[in-house]
Amino acid sequence: MCDAKARPDMRPVYPKAGSYPDFADLVDDSRAQVDRRVFIDRAIYEAELRQIFGRAWLFLAHESQIPNPGDFVRTYMGEDDVIVVRQRNGRIGAYLNSCPHRGNRVCMVDSGKKARGFICNYHGWSFGIDGRLNGTDGKVYDKDPGFEKSAIGLTPVAQVASYKGLVFGTFDPEAPSLEDYFGPFTWYLDVMLDNDEGGTEFIGGCVKSTVECNWKFPAENFVGDILHAFWTHQSGAEAILGGAVDLGSRYDERAFQASVYGHGIETNLDKVGNTRTLGFPELNDYVLGRYEAVKARLGEVRARMVGAVSSCTVFPNFSFLPGQATFRVWHPKGPDRIDLYTWTLVNKNMPERIKELYRKGTMITFSPGGVFEMDDGENWEYCTKANQGWVTRHQKLHYGLGQDSAWSESDLPGHIHRGSLNDANQRQFYKRWAEFMRFDSWGDLQRAETAPPAKPLPQAAE
Ligand code: FES
Ligand SMILES: [Fe+2]
Repeated sequence: MCDAKARPDMRPVYPKAGSYPDFADLVDDSRAQVDRRVFIDRAIYEAELRQIFGRAWLFLAHESQIPNPGDFVRTYMGEDDVIVVRQRNGRIGAYLNSCPHRGNRVCMVDSGKKARGFICNYHGWSFGIDGRLNGTDGKVYDKDPGFEKSAIGLTPVAQVASYKGLVFGTFDPEAPSLEDYFGPFTWYLDVMLDNDEGGTEFIGGCVKSTVECNWKFPAENFVGDILHAFWTHQSGAEAILGGAVDLGSRYDERAFQASVYGHGIETNLDKVGNTRTLGFPELNDYVLGRYEAVKARLGEVRARMVGAVSSCTVFPNFSFLPGQATFRVWHPKGPDRIDLYTWTLVNKNMPERIKELYRKGTMITFSPGGVFEMDDGENWEYCTKANQGWVTRHQKLHYGLGQDSAWSESDLPGHIHRGSLNDANQRQFYKRWAEFMRFDSWGDLQRAETAPPAKPLPQAAE
């Protein structure tokens, strides 16, 4: 019997992490091997949704997408549909896009401006941009004494925070701050986010596509896989640019990989190698022309990284190529499918013509119609499908390139490895994956092996 006084508790429930020691053992760091089941197995995937996507800070939006109160975008955290919306006080909130009545979506569109609220399509419950239930036109609930409007609303994402324009959220109320989650990896993020005093913005819209692959293949590709570019992208580059793409030497002494808590960047120091692959000489001149100014702001190492051959993943599923200005999220949709969201990020202060070249360049290289994206997508789809074979899935995968490449005397932040033809960052990525599967406390996660070695951050203008 329903007792009006025993009202349902509608406070948010954030599921707790547990531990999956057997799954954690699928990554064997001492042998540099990864079990193929991590790319195809439904039970492992479900555990990832809880252990990783239920806890980690996940990319939500760029602040420039939602400048005014009521501006919103829809995105996903794991498979959870989320609305990210600018509040009246200027802060950013994020809420599950699911009505607490029967679960229907309350927001059907991908983005919008100056919304006053969201109304569920099913029975007409309406919610403010702060997620609170406002009521219905008919005020039928106001007459129900067993109904407490203030106790019901859209479930808020437990924590939302920004880092230099990028907005992230976590479902874990106990997760450390966003800056602690990044650790000294912010030193590398600033190559893209802080190389100019005016800050950054996303331009144009968001391109969405589907790839039939496990989400970890693109994430590990961007965390440190320049090896594939010389082979995979060569013919496409010749076709689009009218000649072989110049990525510099295959082995470059100055190239390095850096990893902190599974976030990783692999980079050359060639100043403009990746920007050059967009095919606009004017853009190369622009990047080279800014070199001295960026050097004064960020120091020589990071100034050389701005347009360089370089790629980056923030654990678990947010990646970008600094030199090509493409930013992307690999949203998991089951063990063998992702929805890929793609944007172009530029400095606000750039001339409009330069912004336009970046936008066009990223679209012809890294968008669903882009040559390099098609190259990559095909590989990731075949990796996922081939691993499903019954005998095939029992073989281990080799992540052993560059095992003796640790550059422990480097004063750069994080775990540093020399040379770019190396699986070092991928080993760190899967080590972090295993830590998330194994540990249920953030204390253990933050003290784990992927934590950064203790060393002071280099001075900006070293
Ligand atoms: S499901 Fe939303 S009002 Fe009923
Ligand atoms: Fe690629």
